[in-house]
Amino acid sequence: MRKGLLFSVAVLSILCVAGAVFASDVLVGACIYKFDDTFMTGVRNNMKAEMEKLGGELEIVDSQNKQPVQNDQVDTYVTKGVTALVVNPVDRTAAGPLMEKARAEGLPIVFINREPDAEVMKAYDKIWYVGARAEESGTQSGELIVDYFKKNPDADKNKDGKIQYIMLRGEQGHQDATLRTEYSIKAMKDGGFDVEELGSDTANWDKVQGTDKMKGFIAAVGLDKIEAVLGNNDDMALGAIEALKAEGYNMGDPKKYIPVVGVDATAPALEAMSKGTMLGTVLNDAKNQGWAAVRIAFAAAQGKAIDKEAIGYEVTDGKYVWIPYVKVTAENYKEFM
Ligand code: GAL
Ligand code: CA
Repeated sequence: MRKGLLFSVAVLSILCVAGAVFASDVLVGACIYKFDDTFMTGVRNNMKAEMEKLGGELEIVDSQNKQPVQNDQVDTYVTKGVTALVVNPVDRTAAGPLMEKARAEGLPIVFINREPDAEVMKAYDKIWYVGARAEESGTQSGELIVDYFKKNPDADKNKDGKIQYIMLRGEQGHQDATLRTEYSIKAMKDGGFDVEELGSDTANWDKVQGTDKMKGFIAAVGLDKIEAVLGNNDDMALGAIEALKAEGYNMGDPKKYIPVVGVDATAPALEAMSKGTMLGTVLNDAKNQGWAAVRIAFAAAQGKAIDKEAIGYEVTDGKYVWIPYVKVTAENYKEFM
């Protein structure tokens, strides 16, 4: 008995000397760019759920859409002695200084959702990024519009062979805004349609701003000219739908319908699809993005190598986990509810 106990104590002290971190010693400090963001709230909830399973501790703070606030939060985490960081930057160009803070302490840091520049990713061996290929979601949302126009020739209201569309863009400088815009337009063209942009503006991922911008476009160009609306995310697409509904559109009368697509597959978007007010969306997989981020932080905090065996996700170039997007249509949306 006594011998056994002494032996365990000895093993334990050797491990401690070697700097081993046990599951129960893991304390991950996470910052989310702002809590008041529908999709990131999904990611955040999935991060919590996964850490509960793993048995470490996770703290998450709201960076309130202010980069200086987030910088201070990271400093506080470092002072507190967290064993790993997960950061959803407010401004992705600020990832460099945050990486430097982590590097100075030898702390693992996992960026999510807003991709740091390649140079930042290369400058440290304990940095990872979890996200999704924005091009993919752009292509898929454009294809939703193409499929609709192919099945419904009357969607080309003025019969000019072109899709007259409105684009509601996400935050300026966000890779998802730039690439979803570019690739959704490309997909419509690749689908065999000429396109004409009737209006395009940023609504900062926000539903209320989406409604306001859409109302402005309706007033400026007229409802009968608009043939499609593409939102870089669901909240803005749902905002546009509110503006259409206020004009009696997308309420069940097939003559008063404009196809609207978004990205994320949030619960309200799937609900809108079930009611027929929204044409389609693209799953931005909050569950797998949240899980992957926490699994990396958890494993890295324990000094483990980050690979498929450790975290259950393919790791590209040793640093990137890419979660696939999935096209959500009238046929499959129920699977995501
Ligand atoms: C995007 C998502 C948006 C918004 C944004 C925040 O991936 O589609 O809805 O959450 O991230 O950075
Ligand atoms: Ca047309």
